[in-house]
Amino acid sequence: MDFKKIISHAKEYGFIFQSSEIYDGLSAVYDYGPNGVELKNNIKEYWWRSMVQRHDNIVGIDTAIFMHPQIWKASGHVDAFNDPLIDNKDSKKRYRADVLIEEYMDKLEAKVHKEVAKARKRFGEAFDQDVFVSTNERVVRYLTEKERIAKRLANAMRNGDLADMKTMIEELEIADPESGSRNWTDVRQFNLMFSTQLGNIAGEEGKLYLRPETAQGIFVNFLNVSKTSRQKLPFGIAQVGKAFRNEIVARQFIFRMREFEQMEMQYFIKPGTELEWYQYWKEMRLNWHKAVFPSEMLRYHDHDNLAHYANAAVDIQFQFPFGFKELEGIHSRTDFDLGSHQELSGRKMQYFDPEANESYVPYVVETSIGLDRMFLASMSFSLQEEMVPDAEGKESSRIVMKLNPCLAPIKCAVLPLVKNKPELTEKAKQLFDDIKFTTQVQYDEKDAIGRRYRRQDAIGTPYCITIDFDTLSDDTVTIRDRDSLAQERIPIHSVRDVLSSRIDFEGLLRQVG
Ligand code: GAP
Repeated sequence: MDFKKIISHAKEYGFIFQSSEIYDGLSAVYDYGPNGVELKNNIKEYWWRSMVQRHDNIVGIDTAIFMHPQIWKASGHVDAFNDPLIDNKDSKKRYRADVLIEEYMDKLEAKVHKEVAKARKRFGEAFDQDVFVSTNERVVRYLTEKERIAKRLANAMRNGDLADMKTMIEELEIADPESGSRNWTDVRQFNLMFSTQLGNIAGEEGKLYLRPETAQGIFVNFLNVSKTSRQKLPFGIAQVGKAFRNEIVARQFIFRMREFEQMEMQYFIKPGTELEWYQYWKEMRLNWHKAVFPSEMLRYHDHDNLAHYANAAVDIQFQFPFGFKELEGIHSRTDFDLGSHQELSGRKMQYFDPEANESYVPYVVETSIGLDRMFLASMSFSLQEEMVPDAEGKESSRIVMKLNPCLAPIKCAVLPLVKNKPELTEKAKQLFDDIKFTTQVQYDEKDAIGRRYRRQDAIGTPYCITIDFDTLSDDTVTIRDRDSLAQERIPIHSVRDVLSSRIDFEGLLRQVG
């Protein structure tokens, strides 16, 4: 679905609101509404249960956002957590130089897609995409150009060559997307950490940072957790929590925010085994996504540019409405973090390996996913507009969120057929009161039944239970399936069991592998 429609649907149905809206909003900061918070909690639960509950060697933790400032020195964030910034002198707008160049590459890719679509239409059944892409002169030119730019950008990023990034922007004649001006400043480094001040200490001494990743809270607690949980290597520590980044360009709704949430897991392993575990987590995490999204909307993307702490890194990209973009990162972080904390704190960040009879600083494989990005992926994949037959059998369009039932904000709606019949509403309320202890359920009696179904479709409710006049005589209800629209009659006393067998968290977790 069109991205703008997704954004307005998110607001209209109480999923996401702009932060501080009555004061005209705060850029790249968002609030989650009543349906949004349920969906977000369900995503967290899916992640937490598949990490912590399913693995007896992964434990959870919840660390503070404020941490000793030396932590960010040791982690490299004070010196290296920068993005290349460029200003347009005419519009006074700020951009990330690398993103301007990447957007130029996206345009080349879009041109390729256009050529492919045209050719497919022209050749019909006989069309062979691979042959076309490797032989069509125009397509080959676009792809070669894209590859050349990607390599040069990766080089410039790796070497911190800001001057070359500026030259690329000039050579490619990249203009300010808003004003069209090509009057650019030089490119300079911009640190993404937000800072604040500790109450009683003035100046640099009291400078604190809002954490830009949750991972460091895990690293600095490695000794505490390994001692108290009596885990042996390999073992993992998982955490869900807020992170903050002063993003230069924060567009695309909740894709890039200044305050966001991460779900991270650090897997501590014996040095030398990291590539094996890296491969394991790469596959495991893709399976987790495949259990709720179609495979063709997911792909791996190896990093051209390794972060300062990694010796291997891959993104799991998702096909957002604006193209394939990073949803999750899997990084082999070596012993960089524990080693740096050991050096700066003077505390031994080591593990005694009883089998090898030696102590060492463990290596780490990390999985890191943005909760808000997973939310956006879930919304953008599931929100669909389709034609379905209405009560009279006529085709009409409906907006439906085809979320996995385990993730849906409301699992079931209880609906008396009409509002002004107390015998129906009382029976419906009894059922509602009975099942609300086991599942997230909503009671709704306002408007015609068809409109109520549509309202539930629009927020992704997988099942609607209707209490009608037959219910009064035979104690059965209809259960309507959101996706197939099939309606079945079931005994009222079996509703709880039917719902729990169809909203199957256990089945979902087993699917992950
Ligand atoms: N600890 C490693 C780390 O933080 P990252 O690739 O910078 O790695 C991990 O971030 C994930 O966090 C990303 O894959 C993305 O899903 C999410 N993320 C990063 N920056 C974000 C932002 N500004 N807004 C929303 N999500 C973000």
